[in-house]
Amino acid sequence: MKRIILTLLAALMLAATPAAAQTTAGHDAKMAWWRGAHFGMFIHWGPYAQWGGFYNGYMQRLGGTEWIMNRCKIPVAEYKAKAAEFNPVNFDADAVARMARDAGMKYLVITSKHHDGFAMFQSDASPFNIVDHTPYKRDVVDQLVKACKKYGLKFGVYYSQMQDWTNGGGTALKPSSLGWPNPEADKVDAYTQAHKGSWDPAQQVRTYDEYFEQIAYPQIRELLTRHGSDIHVLFWDTPQHMKEAYAEKIMDLLKDYPHIITNDRLIRRNARFTGDYKTPEQTIPTEKQLDGCDWETSMTISSSWGHQKRGTSWKSARTLITNLIDIVSKGGNFLLNIAPDETGAIPQPNIKRLAAVGSWMDKYSDAIYGTERASVGRPHWGYCSQKFTPDGKTKVYLYVMDWPEDGELLFRIYENATAARLLDSGKSLDFENTHDGIYLKVPAEAPDDIASVIELEFDHALPRMERKSMNNKNFEIVDEKR
Ligand code: GLC
Repeated sequence: MKRIILTLLAALMLAATPAAAQTTAGHDAKMAWWRGAHFGMFIHWGPYAQWGGFYNGYMQRLGGTEWIMNRCKIPVAEYKAKAAEFNPVNFDADAVARMARDAGMKYLVITSKHHDGFAMFQSDASPFNIVDHTPYKRDVVDQLVKACKKYGLKFGVYYSQMQDWTNGGGTALKPSSLGWPNPEADKVDAYTQAHKGSWDPAQQVRTYDEYFEQIAYPQIRELLTRHGSDIHVLFWDTPQHMKEAYAEKIMDLLKDYPHIITNDRLIRRNARFTGDYKTPEQTIPTEKQLDGCDWETSMTISSSWGHQKRGTSWKSARTLITNLIDIVSKGGNFLLNIAPDETGAIPQPNIKRLAAVGSWMDKYSDAIYGTERASVGRPHWGYCSQKFTPDGKTKVYLYVMDWPEDGELLFRIYENATAARLLDSGKSLDFENTHDGIYLKVPAEAPDDIASVIELEFDHALPRMERKSMNNKNFEIVDEKR
């Protein structure tokens, strides 16, 4: 009897297993390439690039330029009319994928549909897409799938599964006009307050259920049916108003694509649908915030996710490389966002910066790919990470940001190294294993302007940081703060 009850219990537990759960071994296998990659390209691109952050002569206040329709409360018909002129003939998917590869990136994620509801792929579920609604008529997702394959990049899509400002029925966050000095702002605000954030009756033609059934779900299915084996990452966003039933349907669909890695923004803080990785946004977690779960910082290379026409600020190559190192030293991934302009061209400042990151990666990518968070704490002069080799050894990478004054670098690890070398030239360094740590004899001048890397070798496996399976504690839920 007891056995029967136990068997029944086990069966019940199995049935209650969330759609997303996998065995740890299967999960680790799925995550392996992603964990080793550490560096990817994010692309925010859509008809919003035509406004580039400016409406009626004013720069939109607050938010990335991809939010212009919402921030400036642009009527649906007006937005659609301008989107019908979107003709990005300068877009070169091949060049974009090559640029990502040359920068040392291993994957690429494009906004297949952002909150403006415009699909960057042909869609039978909604004519508001790049093939059916514009003179350009070419499927951007399709072009990028092919280009990524050619350059050996894993491909992924961002899809705004619930927020949608043009198809009708989707969520509209931010019920206030903080975009431009609209003389009618009070009226518009009152309207949005009374209509769940929407500012145009055209946004209310469906219920949330209908929106999910008629737009989001069919589009996700379209993406998967066409490109499922080539899509490796699904980046959901702004889960407000997602229901468990919707999440369930999406995860059911994904059962046929067990290789796809999904982020934690499908549905808000739900233990059944945690996704595979956490998404700190525009910020790098502190050591204290890390909880052993997989994570990826998404960050803009400039002051906006979408293209910004004027007043743009750009992160320097130094900042980008430092961020990459900081993230890698903490075991995370860096998804760095660039934005093509309204013609499809990639503005020069992106190209320049990615090339600089690429030159650094040419010399030091061994210290990026396949590394893990080191068990020893962060050194005063920079960062470190570790990598386990198949023959049971460990390599430790020291990223020296502040080169020593006296030709001697102390790495305070209490393990004996067997070899040390400068990673760029391969030149061996003399070193001493001591009670204080490892003293390394280094050249007077830093070999690299931004971050010099030293590789240490240990003939045994160093302690490994424990990896935890996902929980539903997000770093933040997007768009609650802005
Ligand atoms: C935020 C922004 C959104 C962007 C996303 C990327 O949610 O509102 O525009 O796509 O972050 O992580």
